[in-house]
Amino acid sequence: MKDRFDRNIDYLRISVTDRCNLRCVYCMPEEGVESIPHQDVLTYEEIMRLVRISAGLGVTRIRLTGGEPLVRKGIENLVADIKAVPGIEQVSITTNGILLPEKFEALHSAGIDAVNISLDTLDVEKFKKITRREGFERVMEAIKLCTDAGIKTKINCVAMKGVNDDEFLAIAELARDLPVCVRFIEFMPVGKNDFEKCVPWQEIKDTLDASFGPMAVDIEPHGNGPAVYFKPDGFKGSIGFISAMTCAFCDKCNRVRLTAEGFLKLCLQYDVGTSLRDIMRAGATDEELATAIKTTVWNKPKEHTFNDYEGAEDIEENSMSRIGG
Ligand code: GTP
Ligand code: 5AD
Ligand code: SF4
Repeated sequence: MKDRFDRNIDYLRISVTDRCNLRCVYCMPEEGVESIPHQDVLTYEEIMRLVRISAGLGVTRIRLTGGEPLVRKGIENLVADIKAVPGIEQVSITTNGILLPEKFEALHSAGIDAVNISLDTLDVEKFKKITRREGFERVMEAIKLCTDAGIKTKINCVAMKGVNDDEFLAIAELARDLPVCVRFIEFMPVGKNDFEKCVPWQEIKDTLDASFGPMAVDIEPHGNGPAVYFKPDGFKGSIGFISAMTCAFCDKCNRVRLTAEGFLKLCLQYDVGTSLRDIMRAGATDEELATAIKTTVWNKPKEHTFNDYEGAEDIEENSMSRIGG
């Protein structure tokens, strides 16, 4: 599926729930989070219908996100069902890892292709501060289960000034002995989040280069996202950077998002898109839905303007947890 800037959109991120069992500081407020009523959330049947139609339009890769996708019951069945759709080549999930130990076997049997797990610190106390909940050990166990099973695993570390910038080296070291991609993500001010915390990726890379030696670019493809990868000498895994703030990668953007409420969202930063749920529930045929998807995707915004909010229109007011990253 093409947009009006000739970008090929073949990657759909589906948020299956807005609910989450953590309250990470960069993603959700501590209190006062209103959950979307159940009847407003897409059913699995509705999600599957949209997946089939999207696959017919050229979507080949699906990522399940949240909130926290593993809190939604029966997620493993959804993975298996999506895997069976003709045209879908890859189904992956982005999770905080807390429920992964108990769901692991089911997801593995369902055929999950890749797992991205959030981990912003190696310090148990700091984990509690960042996520406002317990569970560090379970996340570490989740990482081990995935790598032991040979599943492609990435660790997502949101880099925050004054919060975890003393740990970048230690977190990067995880990729020395484990076959994982450790990725540092520039903090993004989605939903009018606090700006000052962003650590530019180049600063992190300089710190790592100084310790590991200059890292060679890793040209092996590791995913479908905007990360760039490097491989330090002697490392089993690699180090990635998602430079959402300091670099413009929007010209290569290949994705759109489906929120838990069935809104086809065109760009992380803007609330522009179409409610496929409303069209579907009003009785649209598959052909009408396909046309709605194509027309919506065509109008995908050119780029984000996180660095220059003033005057920007249609800015997303929802927190990351409602978007799925
Ligand atoms: P793979 O590279 O396929 O493994 O996935 P990914 O990096 O796209 O997915 P993941 O859910 O792990 O996202 C990691 C981080 O990248 C999150 O902070 C996302 O918000 C961010 N990200 C993903 N896609 C985009 C995008 O299109 N624009 C921006 N600005 N950030 C994105
Ligand atoms: N900035 C950058 N990354 C974020 N994530 C959540 N909120 C933010 C933010 N404000 C990341 C989490 C998770 C992924 C889905 O999005 O680390 O891994
Ligand atoms: Fe939940 Fe993920 Fe947000 Fe953390 S980043 S609060 S795990 S949705």
